[in-house]
Amino acid sequence: MSSSDKKPQVRSVSILGTGSAVPDRVLTNHDLEALVDTSDDWIVARTGIRERRIADDKTAASDLATAAARRALESSGITADQLDTIVVCTVTADYQFPSTACLVQAAIGAPRAYCMDLAAACSGFLYGTEVARGLIGAGLANHVLVIGVEMLSKFMNWQDRGVCILFGDAAGAAIIGPHNGRGEILATYLGADGTSAELIELPAGGSRHPITHEAIDQQQHHFHMKGNEVFKLGVRGMEEACRRVLDRAGVTPADVSLLVPHQANTRIIDATAQRLELPPERVYLNIQKYGNTSAASVPLALDEARREGRLHEGDLVLMVAFGAGLTWGASLVRW
Ligand code: COA
Repeated sequence: MSSSDKKPQVRSVSILGTGSAVPDRVLTNHDLEALVDTSDDWIVARTGIRERRIADDKTAASDLATAAARRALESSGITADQLDTIVVCTVTADYQFPSTACLVQAAIGAPRAYCMDLAAACSGFLYGTEVARGLIGAGLANHVLVIGVEMLSKFMNWQDRGVCILFGDAAGAAIIGPHNGRGEILATYLGADGTSAELIELPAGGSRHPITHEAIDQQQHHFHMKGNEVFKLGVRGMEEACRRVLDRAGVTPADVSLLVPHQANTRIIDATAQRLELPPERVYLNIQKYGNTSAASVPLALDEARREGRLHEGDLVLMVAFGAGLTWGASLVRW
């Protein structure tokens, strides 16, 4: 074998700690009944959601991201000045620029870290974690803070009952570093399909359709989704991502201890679990409390599962997500 045929040396990478944060304010399905023509029964039956958290007017994405980051640092034993990189995965940044990652860097005091935002919607955390794994694996960074944060309530048309009942605000974070005996990321699979970009979008506010009075009158500055089509693609995408990452790691669904899926809809999660023949006790759910929190969904679920004692040393934990872009992905961790 010539030297050019050799695989590059990569370091194994671990999740060293997790943290999360949600706003205090709870918006229940009954509260929504006063806003749109819907019912608690319909929302619970069609989505599994009972309530979600909504930020107040003063709170922005970086505030929740900072709170989650501090908790992740605490749980990892890493200090902010040890961070080399901060990746904030979000489609609801504080500003178009500067990046939310730079705002978090200032808030937590991580002067050595270079900072970037990453837009992969609900798959963001898995995309961000893979960027971290690449940097650390290649020896270009040691400790990377990856945050998934979303504040979709600020971009919501509160008259669109097909969308506004689904989403909530939250942040979840992880410290990624060189493998330390636990939490090793064994494999990741990521996918995207930009040909279906229009299925989930926020049309106005970018360079294609800058904000105008007309755009606002047409609700183009709000979240739009073709929920029904997304539903079918979501089930297919989540199953495919799970199977591919399990193949990459050389294991089968039967080996998975806990599925930690993107919390978009219990029916999507149930269908994915059924296709993988995973029983309900091996599927983590917190959608009833938070709804769909997009990029925060997977790290929030992972952090809650950890704090509830659902993750045991040696467990194979399978994270999977699907969202706007379209983007999807899965990551397998040996806890
Ligand atoms: N309350 C009551 N009725 C509602 C409603 C609500 N909040 N939202 C929609 N409906 C109605 C529709 O108007 C429709 O009525 P019609 O038959 O008289 O036209 C009926 O319920 C069925 O609508 P449909 O959109 O087919 O429902 P659904 O079973 O697909 O559920 C979603 C809607 C949005 C819950 C579902 O499509 C979904 O979860 N999609 C995926 C969303 C997702 O995961 N997106 C993010 C990826 S990150």
